[in-house]
This record gives sequence, C-alpha cells and structure tokens, in this order.
Amino acid sequence: MNADPNAPIGVFDSGIGGLTVAREIMRNLPSERIVYFGDTARLPYGNKSKETILRFSRQIVRFLKEQQVKAIVVACNTASAFAVDELREETDTPLLGVIEAGARVAAARTVNRKIGVIGTEGTVRSRIHESFLKKLDPEVTVYGKACPLFVPLVEEGWLHDPVTVEVARRYLQEMKEEQVDTLILGCTHYPLLRSTIGNIMGENVTLVNPAYETALALRAMLEEQGINRQENVQEEFPYRFFVSDLAEKFQSFANSILPYDVKMTRKIDIERY
Ligand code: DGL
Repeated sequence: MNADPNAPIGVFDSGIGGLTVAREIMRNLPSERIVYFGDTARLPYGNKSKETILRFSRQIVRFLKEQQVKAIVVACNTASAFAVDELREETDTPLLGVIEAGARVAAARTVNRKIGVIGTEGTVRSRIHESFLKKLDPEVTVYGKACPLFVPLVEEGWLHDPVTVEVARRYLQEMKEEQVDTLILGCTHYPLLRSTIGNIMGENVTLVNPAYETALALRAMLEEQGINRQENVQEEFPYRFFVSDLAEKFQSFANSILPYDVKMTRKIDIERY
C-alpha cells in the first residue's frame, strides 16, 4: 500500500464511461491527482462473465499499483458488481466500487420504497444493488432493467437525439408502471443521459448518480485513512490517462466531458500484467 497523501488515485473502467466518475472526482476533490485506465481494447464489460471481468480487473489493479496509486476506484458498474469483493480481499490498497454509495443514497431518498436500477445486462443480472438495498432496508422493492443500447448512443454523442428519447421511453416504461420514486443510474454512461431520463421519469422521481456519490464516499474514505491530499499545487499533468487501444477516440470523448484539457493518452499492453 502507498500511504503517501500526494500519490494519485487510480480510477479504472472498461473504456470511456468511467470518465463520468473521474469528472466527479475532479470537481469534488480538486487537489487529488488521478491515474485513469480505460480498457478500450476489451470493452464492453456489460455482457461478459464474472470470471472474465475478474481476470481483466486483476490485471488493471496490478497496472495501477505499479503506478503507485494510494487508492483505487472501480468506476465501471459491471466490474464493481462482479469483482470488488475479490479485489478488495487481494489488495492492501483501499478500493471503492460505485455500487455501494449509490445504493446507500437511494435507500435514504426513497419514500414509497420502490427503487429502480438501470444498468448493463451484467450489473442487472448480478442483483448487487438489491442485496445492498435489502440490507439497508428489508422492506424495499427493487426493479432492475438492462438498457444496453444507452452505451453506444452516448458514445455516438446522441445525448438528446429523438432516437435516444424513444429508446429511453421504451426502456423506462416498466419503471414508470411500477411507480418507482428513485432510480439509480447504474452504468457509467447514464449520467450523461440524465436530462433525457429525468424528462421521461418526471420530476417526482429522484435520479441517483453513483459517480457523484462515489466521489463523496472517496473523499470520506481518504480523510478517514489520513491519505487525502492537503496541498493544492498546480501541476502540469495532475491527471494521466492510459488505455488499451485507440487513444484518439478516447481523447476526443474525454475532452468533450471533462473540465480538463486531455493532451496525452498513452496506450499500454494490459495483457502484460
Ligand atoms: N462501464 C460499463 C458499466 O458501467 C458500461 C460499458 C461496458 O459495458 O463496458 O457497467
């Protein structure tokens, strides 16, 4: 474990979606440095088995440890659903997934105790949110719905396109019928569709963004462990980005959503780890 408060935080995802989590860390923990890894060669994770995701995640954790990170955020919801428990047992580096903080906030916000979860096929199949939520409040009912088309639509940049609105309407119909009053945006890409989803669900439904909640949970964890970065020194490269394939596409997406100009992304061979 690297207990140096000035060391960076490792953040990883299957690709570009986890940048929504990196963005919340940049906004809410501005003095922290980040090493981001996007597994662009092997995405999507959303339709892969637990075994495969665990193997990929272990490799990435080895890479991030080599980068001397002080903590790791598993930004990918699917990897969080399938791999966080094992990874946490295997590493001495403090590690956070994105499921728990979102579930905690959803349990606190719901009034009618009907909570919806949207995510990839893997995340929904794992029923991980339900198991967290039931521990917090055995009376809640959890409705899960996989929305696999959201990921390519977001990557295409069609955030407000009529096609996306129609797809969202179909996916969310069930949630509306079940009258959920709280909806967890359980996939890295979905916070970018927040306004489209919000318009369909209506203003009485609380949308929970796990990316934001995880950034707050990360701040609490770093403070508790005494490894939060105190200095706010301006550095030329406070954020470093690594991918396993096609750095250019990643970089243009990153520049469209981050409050930071990404000038350099390095491609690495993740199979080496
Ligand atoms: N990052 C993934 C997640 O949050 C979505 C994209 C993928 O399937 O790889 O579950």
